[in-house]
Amino acid sequence: MSGTSNNTRLHQWVNDWAEILQPDSVYWCDGSADEYERLCQTLVDGGTFTKLDEAKRPNSYWAHSDPGDVARVEDRTFICSANPADAGPNNNWRDPAEMRVEMTTLFTGAMKGRTMYVVPFSMGPLGSPIAHIGVQLSDSPYVAANMRIMTRMGQGALDALGNSDWVPCVHSVGAPLAPGDIDSSWPCNPDNKYIVHFPETRDIWSFGSGYGGNALLGKKCFALRIASVMARDAGWLAEHMLILKLTNPAGEAKYIAAAFPSACGKTNLAMLVPTIPGWKAETIGDDICWMKYGADGRLYAINPEAGFFGVAPGTGYDTNANAMETLWGNSIFTNTALTSDGDVWWEGMSDTSPARATDWRGQTWTPESTTPAAHPNARFTAPAAQCPSIAPEWEDPAGVPISAILFGGRRRTTVPLVAQAFDWEHGVFLGSIMASETTAAAAGAVGQLRFDPMAMLPFCGYNMGDYFAHWLKVGASTDASNLPKIFFVNWFRRDEDGRFLWPGYGENSRVLKWVFERIDGSVDAVQTPIGYLPTAGGLDLNGLDIAPDDLNQLLSVDSQGWTAAIPQIRGHFAQFGAALPAQLGTALDTLEAGLASA
Ligand code: GTP
Ligand code: SPV
Ligand code: MN
Repeated sequence: MSGTSNNTRLHQWVNDWAEILQPDSVYWCDGSADEYERLCQTLVDGGTFTKLDEAKRPNSYWAHSDPGDVARVEDRTFICSANPADAGPNNNWRDPAEMRVEMTTLFTGAMKGRTMYVVPFSMGPLGSPIAHIGVQLSDSPYVAANMRIMTRMGQGALDALGNSDWVPCVHSVGAPLAPGDIDSSWPCNPDNKYIVHFPETRDIWSFGSGYGGNALLGKKCFALRIASVMARDAGWLAEHMLILKLTNPAGEAKYIAAAFPSACGKTNLAMLVPTIPGWKAETIGDDICWMKYGADGRLYAINPEAGFFGVAPGTGYDTNANAMETLWGNSIFTNTALTSDGDVWWEGMSDTSPARATDWRGQTWTPESTTPAAHPNARFTAPAAQCPSIAPEWEDPAGVPISAILFGGRRRTTVPLVAQAFDWEHGVFLGSIMASETTAAAAGAVGQLRFDPMAMLPFCGYNMGDYFAHWLKVGASTDASNLPKIFFVNWFRRDEDGRFLWPGYGENSRVLKWVFERIDGSVDAVQTPIGYLPTAGGLDLNGLDIAPDDLNQLLSVDSQGWTAAIPQIRGHFAQFGAALPAQLGTALDTLEAGLASA
């Protein structure tokens, strides 16, 4: 035993579960560098990890998963509230008592032949009043190693916990070993996964998957699904948002949070390098944002994570140099390709592909291959502290005051480059009607347009109608002048041939500048039925080569497209029945009337 705690209830809980799960041994993680090295060696010995060339990428490893375990599984994710209405139409609901019986059967003996790791972790800086502690039991050393990068894991979390309560997280890959069995390099139970949340008791049970948000339970399961319930009950917000610090040429800084769905540009925007002279962007977080009111009535945000679990494909020096620099070492790469000289590669990392590599399936790959070298949801796990653009205050326990919230989807049509909501209530309306094309971050079809309100469809741990009401309540609980201004953005407009109309990436700084100046009230806007849009010349386009036609499409209201969407939005709202706040229905009527008379 390594990590130590005097919390007798914690010991009791661990012992009770060890009896059910029946691991060969129990190991308490202390979070030390020595321990991390030993975990990685265990993974190398078991064939899960391949160590990368120490000279090229020190202390880094490559792993490839079972082909049946490559992304979040939304159809196997459950919210087990006592009342089905509390889960809402946005979640799969199961009766909590029945689910506990069903899963206890699965968990019984599930860790046979394996070690059970006890992984204490803090979501948020140790001791921050905004932070919360969880303890994950897992039979996956891969999960323990990733949790050490993604959270404040180990003795520090146990010390911060003391004798208080934690969010209990039970995880098994669901692949017990009989004596003499040879383990697979990615043990899992691909056809029998359960990602289960009990919002009333605030605990998490996960079975069958070892990948990402299914298995690193501090992330989506705790910091979003369970935390959204905690936030609802205590008047704060737990959101799928990046946090960015933006400084203008005069040296004034503002903090901006942005909610984009999975694989829709949060990591990129969080680490953006502005193309406009004199502006500076720094990173606070790239995926999750917890916001609570400060004594001054403003919303203060922390990044509850300590690392990035970012999409690898498409990440290169031209698109995200700061991410590339973050990955110099101490990183884990999952489902990328492995090069013959002991480094990693993925599509979009460089213009030239390696002549030969091992693909994410473990097979030989050459540029002539007809399948990609990296899985589209291949990910890197890297310490946030290694990011060259990390803001000095990223671990400030008090958080940073948020001045703007952006909502953005992946929309090839209709939605303009940027629009500002009239006020908080209208901003909540715009967030509630957000839609986006699905990506490889979740199992299932890619490119299908679906409503994904506030980028929280897969992550809201309760009825989304109640979630909208909570947003309205949060907005009403402070002076309007304290509230962040709300904006809608879309980097993904395309023409009929599929070409992007907007260059994106670093050029998004032009939109951020407009946002900054709108907050200050130093730039005018045009009022339209969907919100305030930039005036002609309102957006700084100095030095940008963009066709006037493209710009016109990006910055005008597509009345026809919006009008055509109204019935779909009505259908989307209808799902929530009485839980839908009346203000949102009114806002939709106002939008419809505005489009008709425009
Ligand atoms: P999760 O980690 O899944 O929550 O996603 P994320 O929102 O952090 O996604 P990420 O930033 O990794 O986005 C990944 C995809 O979006 C990649 O395919 C990027 O190339 C693409 N992307 C990001 N920013 C832009 C942009 O400004 N324009 C365009 N066209 N693509 C972008
Ligand atoms: C997402 O899918 O939004 C992610 C990756 O950030 S995972 O942690 O796997 O959910
Ligand atoms: Mn995410």
